[in-house]
Amino acid sequence: MTKLNSSIYLAGSKQKLLKDILPHLQDGNRKTLLTPFSGSGVVELACIEQDLFENYYSNDLEEWVVRLHNKLKDPKFILDCKSVNDKYPSDKKSYLQMREDYNQGKCQDDTLLFNLLMRSHSNRMRFSGQGSKLKCNIPYGERNRFDMERMLKHHTLSQKMNVRQGGFATFLNSFQDLDWEEVTIYADPPYLGTTAVYNAGWSKMDDEVFRECMLKYHHLGAKVIFSNIFYNRGYVAQDLIDWCGEHSDKFDVHHLDMDYRNTAHVKYEGKKTDEVLIVSK
Ligand SMILES: C[S@@+](CC[C@H](N)C(=O)[O-])C[C@H]1O[C@@H](n2cnc3c(N)ncnc32)[C@H](O)[C@@H]1O
Repeated sequence: MTKLNSSIYLAGSKQKLLKDILPHLQDGNRKTLLTPFSGSGVVELACIEQDLFENYYSNDLEEWVVRLHNKLKDPKFILDCKSVNDKYPSDKKSYLQMREDYNQGKCQDDTLLFNLLMRSHSNRMRFSGQGSKLKCNIPYGERNRFDMERMLKHHTLSQKMNVRQGGFATFLNSFQDLDWEEVTIYADPPYLGTTAVYNAGWSKMDDEVFRECMLKYHHLGAKVIFSNIFYNRGYVAQDLIDWCGEHSDKFDVHHLDMDYRNTAHVKYEGKKTDEVLIVSK
């Protein structure tokens, strides 16, 4: 199975679970892959590498994620990122200068943003304020993961990716003319019960709308696969568990070997995370 990785480092990347997810995405009839919660894009990139689909449409709510995806398609962006990496030495002082320069430039320079992500403490981008007060405040990570080879691979594969910005339902709704019998949807929404930064604002109601959406596209004929958790750090996703029971004629539940107990700064000694992959029959 693929060792491929995205050059956009993001918490929640499915890189380690590609071996569990990819075998479910294609049944021989699907031409188009829709990924409404793209994140690092590693699932799409792995599918492109394996030539699983003809068309790829991705989406994410975060503008900066979408911008980085689209810019990585341009070789000039990669060279500009390399120049920035060469200009700032790999130490804390230079990192803070880089962050200051990015904030002084009103958070517009994506070559600086990309390099901040490579040197940051975690894979969680953090901004505070809004409009002219917007500031990036991700802490220094004592590392520099700048990797030209990885960027170039991402660049080559991502030429087939079409990435849009917006909410997942609007994105899925925009494909009025698709033959859903030829579509796979892989969805990896924020999980209730985890602490990832991108969960901010994701509510129980979003979860309900999301599941309704998955039912709708399953009914239209799409192959629908989505990731989630049944249990994490004392949180039991009872609504999801009940939903899977109610729709067990349409969806199978696969329990995956993934553990989020050590991913937050506060470790958890209790029961292991129960990460699931929900796959339409
Ligand atoms: C669990 S991450 C996806 C990770 C991805 N599968 C990967 O391998 O990197 C969830 C993503 O959903 C995005 N997101 C959050 N709310 C959203 C919404 N309402 N519509 C679309 N995307 C959303 C976040 O910005 C984040 O990138």
